[in-house]
Amino acid sequence: MQDNVSQRKWNVESSKSANNAFNPIRRIVDKGGFKPNPNKSTISLSIGDPCVFGNLNILDYANDLLIENIKSSKFNGYPPSTGYEIAREAVAKYVETPTSKLTSKDIIVASGASGAIELAIGVLLNEGDNILVPKPGFPLYECTSKTKFINVKHYNLLEKQGFNVDLEHLRSLIDDKTKAILVNNPSNPCGIVYSKQHLLDIIQVAREYCLPIIADEIYSDLTFGEHKFYPMASLTDKVPILSIGGIAKRFLVPGWRLGWVAIHDRDNIFSNGRIIEGLISLSQVILGPNSLVQSILPKLLDPQNTQVKEWCSTITKTLESHSKLTVDMLSKANGLKPVCSSGTMYQMIEIDCSKYEDIADDNEFVGKLLEEQSVFLLQGTVFSLPNFFRIVFCAPIDKLTEAYERIIEFCETHKKK
Ligand SMILES: Cc1ncc(COP(=O)(O)O)c(C=O)c1O
Repeated sequence: MQDNVSQRKWNVESSKSANNAFNPIRRIVDKGGFKPNPNKSTISLSIGDPCVFGNLNILDYANDLLIENIKSSKFNGYPPSTGYEIAREAVAKYVETPTSKLTSKDIIVASGASGAIELAIGVLLNEGDNILVPKPGFPLYECTSKTKFINVKHYNLLEKQGFNVDLEHLRSLIDDKTKAILVNNPSNPCGIVYSKQHLLDIIQVAREYCLPIIADEIYSDLTFGEHKFYPMASLTDKVPILSIGGIAKRFLVPGWRLGWVAIHDRDNIFSNGRIIEGLISLSQVILGPNSLVQSILPKLLDPQNTQVKEWCSTITKTLESHSKLTVDMLSKANGLKPVCSSGTMYQMIEIDCSKYEDIADDNEFVGKLLEEQSVFLLQGTVFSLPNFFRIVFCAPIDKLTEAYERIIEFCETHKKK
């Protein structure tokens, strides 16, 4: 025994999968490393968490439901790995459309939309396959794929054309190893909502090449003014779609960790490929999200619940007014050009570095802004869009105004003489 121990050497190393897990947003936000100006209070407009400032809160009704269910002690055990039947049914009713009907069997609840994305990518792709994801885009798609040794190809969004997909570029990336197209609408970080026609054009590419779509629709109803959200599944009876959603953004509870995959099969393509069984098997690895949060979904997601509907529309209007303030104020800043958002909680701002004495790129802009003005933003490079920065406009109006005044002052201070 003693001899065996001495012959073996310790060799404990982080796995290739863990080494591939790089989420640039969390790396920046969790690790910090930036030094704000100690003489100014920090205003963080960097992460897509609507709870940071305490001004946006889920309605009391939902809290009351949760408390009631905690006290009932009925939801303390393990739920089925795919979710409680009542939760799956509630999600099915919430996301189905007249042309794409769903039942509870078509829903897998997951630990946030992140967990749902993991399931969707995990069931459709093998090591060495590739997935097409948007650029600029949410970095989690790449991060998740890389931990599974799935290759990522980025299709361009055209900033000069409202961040629409460059369809020719998308087509040019497809090869034998391509197994899915991921579409994020409404989009993080661009804040855009695609038109019906544009979604149909993307679906046409998927149809031509027989590729399923993973539609990340977590910002589904957070759209402003006349901009309307069209679920991709409502627009095709030919292309199978795994639609991703969740309550994090719509109900302002990212910490509650509840998302879902909705399976929109077409011509039995998914069922012939055992995709549904695959999703069930994958869900059994983690056992789904928190039981208590699942338990309130029937009431929270009930399309007939006017109390919830009215609350949702108030929140959307609030975010729309924040978006307007952002564009109005930052349009006045030297060297900045806001791209109008049509939904979500995000605004991309283009930086014209030629207008500044000593700022070379978005990294420097964001770093110096934090050091001098204590305003924390994320640089566009994080989303593969250099010379932009992203603002999360959830903060209360007075905080946003103060942050924007500081940004304007910063742009003046660094103005080219
Ligand atoms: C586009 C997009 N998809 C998915 C997620 C993950 O959502 P969740 O917090 O429910 O995991 C986010 C979170 O910011 C997101 O912006």
